[in-house]
Amino acid sequence: MRKKIVAGNWKMNKTFSEADDLINKIIELISDNNFDNVGVVLCPPFVYLELATDMTEDIEIAVAAQNVSNYEFGAYTGEISAPMLKSMDVEYCILGHSERRKYFNEDSKLLAEKVNILLKNDIIPIFCCGELLPEREAGNHFNIVEKQITDALWHLDSVQFKKIVLAYEPVWAIGTGVNATPEQAQEMHAFIRGIISTKYGAEVAENTTILYGGSCNSKNAKELFANPDVDGGLIGGASLKAEEFVKIIESF
Ligand code: 13P
Repeated sequence: MRKKIVAGNWKMNKTFSEADDLINKIIELISDNNFDNVGVVLCPPFVYLELATDMTEDIEIAVAAQNVSNYEFGAYTGEISAPMLKSMDVEYCILGHSERRKYFNEDSKLLAEKVNILLKNDIIPIFCCGELLPEREAGNHFNIVEKQITDALWHLDSVQFKKIVLAYEPVWAIGTGVNATPEQAQEMHAFIRGIISTKYGAEVAENTTILYGGSCNSKNAKELFANPDVDGGLIGGASLKAEEFVKIIESF
């Protein structure tokens, strides 16, 4: 059975003491529960990764980075490499988020390089895809998502592809308070699983975790996660409050 995941993408939020406080509260709330059926992932900014991995050492919470360099080491001032992340016990890394595509011009060629470097260092990419509002309105959303996935991931062989987690994040739903309807999410997730099946076979497709992201909160998570092809969420704003984030995890 494929893995269910709820991941909190903090984006560029929280000071050190706020980060410490949030992780503490999440641990406290999670310790009272039994979340055997769902993997919990925290994605804080780089500077709090060590804090997060240290604090979660004795509890089933994984830590993800929000980005990685496409270079492995060397004279790249300001960059963070995959071996560095690995040496800090980081298990996952978000890639291809629409904010990085938009503000940092990340394209599929760069993302393919980053995917390779993560896999080489045994870190699981959480690969994001999703269409803009005009693209959906023009009925182009399936083509756009297919192209994002095929351009950045289709060079992988099936052993490599099995390690990928996907996140469908329609850009019009991110931070807007307008989530995709459960039907829209299910339709796209089933489409994504279908193209994976065509390329890598039914077994790989069945085992690929596909998360939904975009204004997912404790009120709509249950309905979204109830869909057969929605395997959890990549949560932005609602992951910044411990109670809200843990309620989302409880939605399974
Ligand atoms: P929001 O949950 O704030 O809409 O953000 C979603 C997101 O971008 C997660 O990566």
